[in-house]
Amino acid sequence: MSHFISLDDWSDKNLRGLLRLAQRLKADYMAGGNDPILAGKILALVFEKPSLRTRVSYEIGMMHLGGKSLSLSPAEIGLGKRETVADVARVLSGYVDGVMARVFDHNSLLELAEHGSIPIINGLSDTHHPSQAIADALTILEAFDNPTGRTLTYVGDGNNVARSLLILSAVLGLNVRIAAPEGYHLSEEEMDLISERAERNGATFAPYVDPIEAVTGSDIVYTDVWTSMGQEAETAKRLQVFPPYQLNLDLMQHANADAVIMHCLPAHRGEEITDAAADAPNSLLFPQAHNRLHAQKAVLAHLLGGAVLE
Ligand code: CP
Ligand code: NVA
Repeated sequence: MSHFISLDDWSDKNLRGLLRLAQRLKADYMAGGNDPILAGKILALVFEKPSLRTRVSYEIGMMHLGGKSLSLSPAEIGLGKRETVADVARVLSGYVDGVMARVFDHNSLLELAEHGSIPIINGLSDTHHPSQAIADALTILEAFDNPTGRTLTYVGDGNNVARSLLILSAVLGLNVRIAAPEGYHLSEEEMDLISERAERNGATFAPYVDPIEAVTGSDIVYTDVWTSMGQEAETAKRLQVFPPYQLNLDLMQHANADAVIMHCLPAHRGEEITDAAADAPNSLLFPQAHNRLHAQKAVLAHLLGGAVLE
């Protein structure tokens, strides 16, 4: 049985297959609707943190494919608090056909997978956000006829979104860069994993501290919040460190002329991104959000419906 917990577990070939499936499902949906390949299937959505896009895209994705879903809030489940993660996994395995979970500790997803008997989908953990990365890759494939050889630069905190985005961007053959302050970069081990994927796909990876140097020559400039959910105690400190990394129109002056702007949302407008950048004609923020639906449907169609990756 497969899970969708971290892109590190997925081969380049299967990730490309998942993206093609998302493109096919989107085209079918636009042409009049999808076959009800998940009829009779039920997905449980478990949340330890708030969500708009993840909850709505997975719930509507299930509806489009003929299945049903139910969302369980932190107060209802108390993952690891009211009862152990292992027992939650064992119980849900008898009721539903898959679990999408948004958790603090990434290990909770691994435990759900170990003790349950149904596919587990990562709807964001403290270290990974693969559901977002699939939607971002789909958006990049729509924005550029052939993204191979283009350069994507992530500016800001080396967080869950950055980790998954950079892996999948390397699979697309994009040259990937990250500009982050000292102490906020991905780990050496994570950077090695990105470098390996990039090299295998004829691309490069480079970390920077200077955002202007990193953005120079870039085709895609991506950012995310400086303080992720769960890091609220560090907000004041982070607000001191990150302002030079703001994605604004001055920074975009250093990117290539046809460069696009990306952000996973929710945005803290005025912090990591200005209104002028978020709402610019070359901003892809809302296409990214809308592509969550098609990306999540591909994950569901494969894991719950057996759709083949080709
Ligand atoms: N981008 C994203 O995951 O949004 P939500 O937190 O609203 O789900
Ligand atoms: N890095 C952000 C992403 C939210 C979708 C967080 O974890 O809060």
